[in-house]
Amino acid sequence: MTVSDMAKVELHLHHEGAAPPAFIRGLAAEKKVDLSGIFNEHGGYHYKDFWDFLKVYEAATSVLQTPEDYARLTTAVLEESAAAGVVYSETFLSPDFCGDRDVGAWREYLAAIREAADAAEAEHGIVLRGIVTCIRHFGPQKARETAACAAETAGDWIVGFGIAGDENAGALEDFVWSFDCTREAGLRLTAHAGEWGGPESVRDALDHLRVERIGHGVRAIEDLALVDRLAEDGVVLEVCPGSNVVLGVYSDWRAHPIHRLRERGVKVTVSTDDPPFFHTTMVNEYNRLADAFEWDEGVFEDIARTSAEAAFCDVATKDKILKRLERS
Ligand code: ADE
Ligand code: ZN
Repeated sequence: MTVSDMAKVELHLHHEGAAPPAFIRGLAAEKKVDLSGIFNEHGGYHYKDFWDFLKVYEAATSVLQTPEDYARLTTAVLEESAAAGVVYSETFLSPDFCGDRDVGAWREYLAAIREAADAAEAEHGIVLRGIVTCIRHFGPQKARETAACAAETAGDWIVGFGIAGDENAGALEDFVWSFDCTREAGLRLTAHAGEWGGPESVRDALDHLRVERIGHGVRAIEDLALVDRLAEDGVVLEVCPGSNVVLGVYSDWRAHPIHRLRERGVKVTVSTDDPPFFHTTMVNEYNRLADAFEWDEGVFEDIARTSAEAAFCDVATKDKILKRLERS
């Protein structure tokens, strides 16, 4: 067994961000939309920095216009994930892109995504669950409408609520209503923080939004008192090292703090974020981490178990995933 073959659990994946560029190019051609500006000469996504990445992401997403498009996207994404050994995945879905935050339209998108996910589970054995995600730079009012969509569809498949987008736009405090609303609807909570913002952004997510997981969270390393708080409270970090390195949060893999966070007792997990944008897969993340920190299979087994335990799905699904990890 190599780390490539191990069964993996991924907790931080943006559905549109996982779209293979060829898939988006194909849809653009079908719909006669000119997206040539977002691709490089090799056919991959092209952007200058994180903020440009967000623009390219939204441009790519503009060709995903119907529930059927999202069903096809789901099939393509889950094929890639299953090929990398992922047995359970949580994906970020935004009613902003799926029906413009209209609850009726959102339900139609969701039904199409679930149907495609069920088919992928039957074919590849991979289990998918959804986390409804508001987009920070779209502002708190749109986030409230997104939260209402999430609350309406909370259940065994939509299991969480989160916030992504430009971490430096607005204050997290302005999103408290959305997080309170979705918590009351029974959803589990996560927030992007500590990627472009420093430790104070992670503190805000914990204190104001009262989340149990943090997307990225890696810049907590700049404040060891905060690192100790994360460890003591069992806060789980959805770490995406390849994303951080490609976007320039850290200069290279060895400079990434995931190893130091783990050594100090923080529950770290590993995900790809937006894999084709960052030229990565879960296999690549595992291999690069093994090389950078001399992590062996035991470390990855531990990380996969931590990830399954931190999953937002129900207990029966979680037990099924944990058993699959034991068998792998
Ligand atoms: N949306 C997609 N990927 C993201 C990231 N890495 N950070 C914030 N928002 C995102
Ligand atoms: Zn992310």
